[in-house]
Amino acid sequence: MEPIKVGLLGFGTVGSGTFTVLRRNQEEIKRRAGRGIEITRIAVRNPAKALAALGEAASTVQLGSDFNAVIDDPAIDIVAEMIGGTGIARELVLRAISKGKHVVTANKALLAVHGTEIFAAARTQGVMVAFEAAVAGGIPIIKALREGLTANRIQSIAGIINGTTNYILSEMRERGLDFATALAGAQALGYAEADPTFDIEGVDAAHKLTIMSAIAFGIPMQFDRAYVEGISKLAAIDIKYAEDLGYRIKLLGITRRTERGIELRVHPTLISAKRLLASVEGAMNAVEVHGDAVGTTLYYGKGAGAEPTASAVVADLVDVTRLHTADPGHRVPHLAFQPQSLADTPVLPIDDVTSGYYLRLRVADVTGVLADITRILADAGISIDALLQKEAEQVADNGETDVVIITHDTLEKNVNAAIARIEALSTVVSNVTKLRIEAHG
Ligand code: HSE
Repeated sequence: MEPIKVGLLGFGTVGSGTFTVLRRNQEEIKRRAGRGIEITRIAVRNPAKALAALGEAASTVQLGSDFNAVIDDPAIDIVAEMIGGTGIARELVLRAISKGKHVVTANKALLAVHGTEIFAAARTQGVMVAFEAAVAGGIPIIKALREGLTANRIQSIAGIINGTTNYILSEMRERGLDFATALAGAQALGYAEADPTFDIEGVDAAHKLTIMSAIAFGIPMQFDRAYVEGISKLAAIDIKYAEDLGYRIKLLGITRRTERGIELRVHPTLISAKRLLASVEGAMNAVEVHGDAVGTTLYYGKGAGAEPTASAVVADLVDVTRLHTADPGHRVPHLAFQPQSLADTPVLPIDDVTSGYYLRLRVADVTGVLADITRILADAGISIDALLQKEAEQVADNGETDVVIITHDTLEKNVNAAIARIEALSTVVSNVTKLRIEAHG
């Protein structure tokens, strides 16, 4: 049988990695897919650069700068969108779908923001849109959620799904680096997005979490409802105090089914140092999924980089190759659930989320200050799990001291109300730093 023909849009890290892996493992891949898979056309903004990167393989492909020409080529069966972003990538993906082409993409932003539109268009045309590479790079988490765990009522997902921030947090904790130095290291290693704001402010993780949440709970993509808080304001002292208390701080993406709705949130989070997720260091990713039948499962691997991400892209190319002749009704639905069965369960605002909390504040070391603070917490129905009084490190001999309070699970709005009252005390000389604790799982 003739090989299936792929048109590649973009030839950056992921595009070139996909080309390399597909060529290197073509025999194995053909044995699995039942027919060869060949990238026959590549469109890229700067063909000269791509030509140099292709080397001797350049003779096997038609290289140009016209994206539409690749999409419109009747010989192309699958369009692999490796450009990224929500601008031109959206137009090209929709155009490919309208031409009846199957699409493989690594573009988490595009799907998290425009997924509903893209999947609807794909359904109308009876084509597949495959996106394993969009979440956690080489970890087959989409396959696991959508197919492997399909028997389960999924209860929660907690993931380290941004390698850049995990690398930064590891470097800050292990080597005592400041945030900017650790970020520069992550950029030099090629982990960060072109605009690192998406990494450090939690946006990249929220894109990935939005996709996983939709698949896990059978709800539409709702990136605009996600609560997103990054690590750029995280103080080194909190990493240290957390460690003293037996916790590590990770940028976690958490999505959970509750009686009142779905939690969908990304923020720096304390987790017990004993938990497997806590030992995920450097740029590695890990996703913990809790299902009612299977219990807790954990998926670990490289979440970025040319070949780990290509591993996921090629897996999608194989899936499309195997299934493109199948009746669309017999394929796995894009979001795991049949589109007419998606639920309208609300995504909870952050005020209505339940979590444990780490509160740090600086107080004048005078009689009664702790009693005042604990009374405010008790009035708000907030139960204290641990309370530590630390010697304030940056203030010499002025009698001030840092207090760290760990609370049991409570409603965020109750904590916020208590914080406002605590900050109004004359003996409290700083704002309260609030971090969430993930005690489930
Ligand atoms: N910038 C991302 C990360 C790359 O650091 O994980 C993969 O999405």
